[in-house]
Amino acid sequence: MYQTAASEILDVIHTYSQSFGPMMYTWLGTYPVLLITEPDIIRDILTSPYCTNKGLLYEPLIKGIGRGLITSKEPEWSVHRKLLNPAFSFKILQSFMPIFNQEVNNIITILNKNNECSNMTTLMQDHTLNVAIRTTFGLNVTGDGKNGQNNCLKQNYQCRKLNLDKSLTPREPKNLNIFLDQAIELMRKNEFTVQQVEDELNTILLAAFETTANTITYTLMLLAMFPEYQEKVYKELRSLFPHAGDFEVTYENTQDMIYMGMVINESMRVLPPVPFVARENSHEIELTNGIVIPAGVQFGLNIFTMHRRKDLWGANADIFDPDNFLPSNTEGRHPYAFIPFTKGMRNCIGWKYGLLSTKVALAKLLMNFKFSTDFKYVDLQFYNSIVLELKQTPVLKIERR
Ligand code: HEM
Repeated sequence: MYQTAASEILDVIHTYSQSFGPMMYTWLGTYPVLLITEPDIIRDILTSPYCTNKGLLYEPLIKGIGRGLITSKEPEWSVHRKLLNPAFSFKILQSFMPIFNQEVNNIITILNKNNECSNMTTLMQDHTLNVAIRTTFGLNVTGDGKNGQNNCLKQNYQCRKLNLDKSLTPREPKNLNIFLDQAIELMRKNEFTVQQVEDELNTILLAAFETTANTITYTLMLLAMFPEYQEKVYKELRSLFPHAGDFEVTYENTQDMIYMGMVINESMRVLPPVPFVARENSHEIELTNGIVIPAGVQFGLNIFTMHRRKDLWGANADIFDPDNFLPSNTEGRHPYAFIPFTKGMRNCIGWKYGLLSTKVALAKLLMNFKFSTDFKYVDLQFYNSIVLELKQTPVLKIERR
């Protein structure tokens, strides 16, 4: 049931220590860590009111992004989560559709000038960071991004930091939809302090951009490796948008992208953008198998490994095959066998936002370009970090449709 492979734990800790310094090793060995890939047990933990705290692995993150939703503990976390849930309502997400659309057009302009792209991840990170800055701060800081070089990423961060102080001065909210104005409203009602507003906004920005960028990039990359699936997505898109060229993707369109949805799910199954999450139990808990776990245990939920378990996904679990998400194949599958956004009490607050912006980006890119690559799926190698990283990003060839 539990995978206690020390090498896996060390791998994660090594990654963290590379990012945050060698301090992490000081608690190695002191705390019991259970690595879990069993959907029943994962459900026990994700739905337990005693397992909402993230645990020690996230402590170093506090230095970087403060105590926002990702890192905060009870009782603060559930109060903030309740206050921030309305910021991700259907109405608000719908109001972001024009931003999702406009920002992809900038990527299309860049790709139109190139026959190949060797830095798709960087290009997409620029894109999703611009989207996130617009929906979080209401700032349009799109750089020139001339040839896909990452020349506006840092600049964007600087803009954000420069403007945050000004933005936090209470003002008449013009657009209550952007996260900053919603957070300021909560500050006015004395629900948040200035520091909490800053931490929550930093958190949303960080949580939004790299995960979504990787989802878009990895899906494009997989479709480039598997042209037969790319053609099926393209066919579906042609039926939704018979007049190619400059078109707007509506919310309703995204709901009609059935095959695209299967492809995105399958991409997040084989390459989960967040391969690993952790929890800590504040009280003793009893698992569904009867095992009692004392308080204070660290749980590592190994999403990457669970998503490729052959007993859950069949003999070809390692292969990319969107048919895994045909209704006939999802029926009867354990509801916690596929959890790219996790589930339960502390799941991703931005999952609908992430899927919407991914669908808009992929629809526009795939309608405009055909992607291919010489890189083979079997040659992909990964770093298990906070977000899944590839050791080598394949060069994608681009052909205009
Ligand atoms: C495809 C894109 C995304 C993926 C795969 C993803 C995945 C995840 C995962 C796995 C978690 C951890 C859940 C846990 O610990 O149980 C998480 C948390 C979170 N995500 Fe996302 N995410 C994505 C996009 C976004 C976006 C677009 C936003 C915001 C606009 C966002 C905001 C957050 C926040 C604030 C949390 C912390 C939630 C909490 O602890 O209450 N995410 N995400």
